[in-house]
Amino acid sequence: MTPDPILHIQSLGVTAGPRPLLRGVSLAVPEGSVFGLIGPSGVGKSTLLKCCNRLVDLTPALRVTGTLLFRGAPVFDRRLDVDALRTRIGILFQQPAVFPCSVLANVLFGARPLARVPRRELPALAEHALREAALWHEVKDRLDQPATRLSVGQQQRLCLARTLATDPEVILMDEPTSALDPQATEAIEHLILRLRGRRTVMLVTHNRAQARRVCDAVARFAVVDGAGTVVETGPAGTVTADAPETGG
Ligand SMILES: Nc1ncnc2c1ncn2[C@@H]1O[C@H](COP(=O)(O)OP(=O)(O)OP(=O)(O)O)[C@@H](O)[C@H]1O
Ligand SMILES: [Mg+2]
Repeated sequence: MTPDPILHIQSLGVTAGPRPLLRGVSLAVPEGSVFGLIGPSGVGKSTLLKCCNRLVDLTPALRVTGTLLFRGAPVFDRRLDVDALRTRIGILFQQPAVFPCSVLANVLFGARPLARVPRRELPALAEHALREAALWHEVKDRLDQPATRLSVGQQQRLCLARTLATDPEVILMDEPTSALDPQATEAIEHLILRLRGRRTVMLVTHNRAQARRVCDAVARFAVVDGAGTVVETGPAGTVTADAPETGG
């Protein structure tokens, strides 16, 4: 018997006023997998990620229909604690969004308000998250320095550490390497492979070679009748290319 998917999306639709952005999206994301989302620009990949942790709420013009279950519970339930959801389903964006404060304050930004972490345990929590993001050795002597002084690749790993500090079950990654050089990209891909099994990753990528390197399965999106939808799902190597390959 296959275990229940950690995220189960059924006939999801998103509209902006009269305009459909996504229609009939159905996906089952297995727990512990790295699940890729590919497809042309504007097809709604980022919008789908933002539905998973309710960031879509921040854009009141968007209406969501259908069902999105996280561990069997509806994400769009009115009574759901959205802040708690976002600690369990973290997100990493294309441009590393570090805050204008110290490296340490950045790592603890989401974890500090969580009542379950006692104050005295915060330094150990920060170290653990930075180690998991493979950044500890590079920043351990500069934890009090402004995070904005780190390189872009380091900043992206800092954002990952900040997400990991809240111990998320799912990490949504929206083109996390597209602003990075090849070496920093490799570091992030290596981290994704290390997270696999312990966490579930949903990865939007335009780079099919990257999808083949890190994803267990891939869903390909395309525009059908004016709205984005999933047209194919399978192992990264077997899903049809819809555009020339990019990157390596
Ligand atoms: N707030 C909004 N109001 C209206 N339309 C929106 C809004 N946000 C996004 N869209 C539209 O929704 C569609 C999907 O956008 P989205 O950013 O999800 O695409 P994407 O697949 O992530 O593209 P890319 O690969 O370029 O990042 C686009 O046509 C975009 O213009
Ligand atoms: Mg996008």
